[in-house]
Amino acid sequence: MRLLALSGSLRVQSLNSAVARAAAELAPPGVDIEVFDGLAEVPLYDAGLDVPGGEPAGVRHLRERIAAADGLLLVTPEYNGSVSGVLKNAIDWASRPPSGGAPLWGKTAAVAGATTGQYGALWAQQDLRRILGIAGARVIEGNLPIARAETAFDERGSLRDPLVAERLRAHVEALVHEASVPLAA
Ligand code: FNR
Repeated sequence: MRLLALSGSLRVQSLNSAVARAAAELAPPGVDIEVFDGLAEVPLYDAGLDVPGGEPAGVRHLRERIAAADGLLLVTPEYNGSVSGVLKNAIDWASRPPSGGAPLWGKTAAVAGATTGQYGALWAQQDLRRILGIAGARVIEGNLPIARAETAFDERGSLRDPLVAERLRAHVEALVHEASVPLAA
């Protein structure tokens, strides 16, 4: 099974990107998690550029990687009580075209979020679930809030908190389980 992890932060030292990388490292046997590294190349959504076969290269790359994945793990920071603009923009591109062929449609997805604050991007994850659902994704039950996330990683960005590792492992396993269930006919 192939999963794709997307972090909604472009920051080099991003805690959310560290969560995405940690998920890739603790994936169960037989599961490959690719961490998408092209969100900085995805321009702001412009319907005038969203031409079949003529979309910007960064958008094509994003859509191809989502389409090739059996499931998605979206890890969002919380900016002013909601999902980051980077992630919302990527979802907007991946939700088109709406009448068939949108890579997000029917895709199984799990949400997670990390903040330096005490709530672990819970509001952002609530909004992310709603946005993904409207875009046609199958969002699995449960959020994964990682609060005070800077304490969970060492200076190299490796996950050192065993409790967070266990919660992340369980979340990935739930995603793998749900992604294995075929879509109802
Ligand atoms: C934040 N941060 C933040 N945290 C939070 O818990 N609730 C919030 O509403 C916000 N709002 C917010 C707005 C903006 C513009 C920034 C830059 C930051 C803090 C944020 O969660 C923290 O910096 C995370 O570490 C950002 O994620 P990355 O970049 O580490 O992945």
